[in-house]
Amino acid sequence: MKRLTWALIQLLLLTSLFETGFSVTTRSRGKKKVPKEPKEINVCEVDVKQSLYCDCDSDKLRNATDAKCLILNEVRVDDPAWGHFTSQMYLQKLKFMARMPNWLRQIPVQLFRQLIHLQVITFQDASIEEVKEYTFYNLSTITEINLSRNQITTLKMHSFENMKNLTAIYLDENRITEINRDTFVNLPSLKSLHLSVNNISTLHDKAFKHLTSLEELELFNNQIKVITADSFHGLRKLVTLDLRNNLIAMIGDRTFIEMPSLRELELDKNEIVYISDKALDGMKNLRKLRLSKNKLVTLEPDFLSGAPGVNFLDLKENLMKTMTFDNIKPIVTNLYNSTSHFYLSGESLSIKRPNLLHAFNPLTTVGAYWRPKHIGFPVL
Ligand SMILES: *[C@@H]1O[C@H](CO)[C@@H](O)[C@H](O)[C@H]1NC(C)=O
Ligand SMILES: *[C@@H]1O[C@H](CO)[C@@H](O)[C@H](O)[C@H]1NC(C)=O
Ligand SMILES: *[C@@H]1O[C@H](CO)[C@@H](O)[C@H](O)[C@H]1NC(C)=O
Ligand SMILES: *[C@@H]1O[C@H](CO)[C@@H](O)[C@H](O)[C@H]1NC(C)=O
Ligand SMILES: *[C@@H]1O[C@H](CO)[C@@H](O)[C@H](O)[C@H]1NC(C)=O
Ligand SMILES: *[C@@H]1O[C@H](CO)[C@@H](O)[C@H](O)[C@H]1NC(C)=O
Repeated sequence: MKRLTWALIQLLLLTSLFETGFSVTTRSRGKKKVPKEPKEINVCEVDVKQSLYCDCDSDKLRNATDAKCLILNEVRVDDPAWGHFTSQMYLQKLKFMARMPNWLRQIPVQLFRQLIHLQVITFQDASIEEVKEYTFYNLSTITEINLSRNQITTLKMHSFENMKNLTAIYLDENRITEINRDTFVNLPSLKSLHLSVNNISTLHDKAFKHLTSLEELELFNNQIKVITADSFHGLRKLVTLDLRNNLIAMIGDRTFIEMPSLRELELDKNEIVYISDKALDGMKNLRKLRLSKNKLVTLEPDFLSGAPGVNFLDLKENLMKTMTFDNIKPIVTNLYNSTSHFYLSGESLSIKRPNLLHAFNPLTTVGAYWRPKHIGFPVL
């Protein structure tokens, strides 16, 4: 018998046919009824009495590995519906979507204890406001947790702890306001953490200190005002840090010293007026530095000396008034390379001749990627 498609289920819901008593349990029609024996509820079979319906890669008992479940009614954490997942204990990928925001308010922690093969778990469009202590704890098979697009404001301490195979956490598009210390603990495989599009104003000191394997940290579109070396304590393996579209006003001495592996630093669209000459100390591996759309008027002469490998520098759309050869001296030979990028623009920019232009002269001859139109006047 042909399986009902996901689309049809959604259509049924939209037209409220369930409420008018339309029966979708057609697959059992014609089969001999075995009386009295309580039938095990298979979460992958449509049952009008259930508060959730899962579209699975197999409908057979204990055979599905991938399920997408639609929440059709309010389900509380103590709802018996969660227990029915023993009928599909081999699930590896599981996604929940709430049709109405209030129908799922908490993460059903006990569910994870039953699904001992689970690798990827996703909750979407639910009204989860808080990730409680030890929600994701000791679950060694889980590799990816996706909590994007819920209504999370608070991550309690120890909410993600002792997960030895966890590689990625997605928490973007929520309303998280701060990142506390000891929220992410003992996650030795965690490579990427997504916290973009939230309302984070405070990164507490050493908030990420246990994330010694992390390579990618996304924090764009938040309200972060202050960053210091302590904000990034412990991120020894971090390769990319995305802080675009925050409210950072200044970069003090040695801010990034805790992240010696960093290659890409994105600081566009902040309020930066000042970068100390020691701000980039210790950034030997930095290649890409984005600072466009800030409020920089001048730069300290030596501000790039801690990051001599930079070959991509974006300073467009600042309020730059002067730019001298000393500003880019530590990286100027990198810019001769045809794979390098250097962007600069400004209404009132005056480039101190002849030094800076002298530096760029070889660029044009070796055909470097050089965009004079981003400079307020023609190059030579
Ligand atoms: C599901 O059933 C198929 C065919 O009977 C079998 O080959 C497969 O191993 C089963 N999968 C699981 C996870 O039990
Ligand atoms: C995480 O979930 C959101 C919402 O369901 C989805 O849009 C996004 O693609 C997911 N991310 C990944 C990496 O699977
Ligand atoms: C967590 O797992 C460890 C072993 O990996 C075990 O010793 C400990 O008892 C577990 N803790 C809980 C609360 O399940
Ligand atoms: C953790 O991941 C490794 C490598 O992918 C795998 O061999 C191992 O079985 C996983 N551990 C658990 C408990 O799933
Ligand atoms: C973000 O946080 C500020 C306080 O820091 C609060 O006033 C504002 O309402 C929050 N915005 C959202 C969308 O939650
Ligand atoms: C140019 O840069 C690339 C990588 O960015 C590097 O592999 C190459 O060796 C450089 N070429 C020169 C001439 O320095």
